[in-house]
Amino acid sequence: MNGLIEVKKVRKTFPQNGGADIVALDDVDISFESTEFVSLIGPSGCGKSTLLRLIAGLIRQDSGTITLDGAEITKPGYERGLVFQDPTLFPWMTIYENIAYGLRSRGVYKTEKRRIPDFFKLVGLEGFEKSYPHHLSGGMAQRAALARTLVNQPKVLLLDEPLGALDAFTRMNMQDEIIAIWQKQRMTTVMVTHDVDEAIYMATRIIVMSARPAKIEQVITVEKARPRRRDDHEFLELRAEILRTPHFAGRECVSDESVKHNKLLGDET
Ligand SMILES: Nc1ncnc2c1ncn2[C@@H]1O[C@H](COP(=O)(O)OP(=O)(O)O)[C@@H](O)[C@H]1O
Ligand SMILES: [Mg+2]
Repeated sequence: MNGLIEVKKVRKTFPQNGGADIVALDDVDISFESTEFVSLIGPSGCGKSTLLRLIAGLIRQDSGTITLDGAEITKPGYERGLVFQDPTLFPWMTIYENIAYGLRSRGVYKTEKRRIPDFFKLVGLEGFEKSYPHHLSGGMAQRAALARTLVNQPKVLLLDEPLGALDAFTRMNMQDEIIAIWQKQRMTTVMVTHDVDEAIYMATRIIVMSARPAKIEQVITVEKARPRRRDDHEFLELRAEILRTPHFAGRECVSDESVKHNKLLGDET
């Protein structure tokens, strides 16, 4: 048993001042299998972050259940690591101390610190142990945030638009690096992204969510071999299939590249 997340009939509302409650998720059923890499895409505000925060145990659902390997999730835990778009490193700590932080707060620093260098190597930050966050580029800071989560060896890695703030070149490199890490660690990975291309490039399964309240609109298994190309026929076909999804309201989910390629495929987007 390692890393099976089961979301069953989950409803989550947020109270709204002077108005009807916002229904973020309504009756959502979904599971994430150990070792798969799922990309969640859907219009802004549809409930993607809410779903990740529920799985992380940061908030509770109104009804329904969420379990990890059969055990109900009721609070945050190191076996479920969440990484946000903003790396949120502690600015007053060195990168080493930032990465060690998780081990210290679990009280296992002494016994597990010998593993820290492995994680520096895993995310390619060797030599930056004594640097401070403001010395790092955006991509490096995001790698440090990843290492800080990975050092706790989570069974489930939750990534909420982790590459959203990076320039296109760094972003593509980071996509490869995250895939390499996932291939080594083989944890259940759920990544929210706005970018259809990123989802196709990275995921073993793509889940398209509808506008709020989020429902599962479409599920696409991506069987492309790795390393993947971003420009072959299979890629373009997959992109066209996703963009045909009804209620794919979020044109913001489509990168300029997607639109261009889709025009090549004869779509009127
Ligand atoms: N803490 C909160 N309080 C009130 N409303 C919230 C809160 N968190 C999220 N929402 C609302 O729930 C909906 C889903 O939000 P979110 O999960 O962040 O969407 P996404 O990540 O898909 O863009 C949005 O309408 C958002 O405004
Ligand atoms: Mg979000």
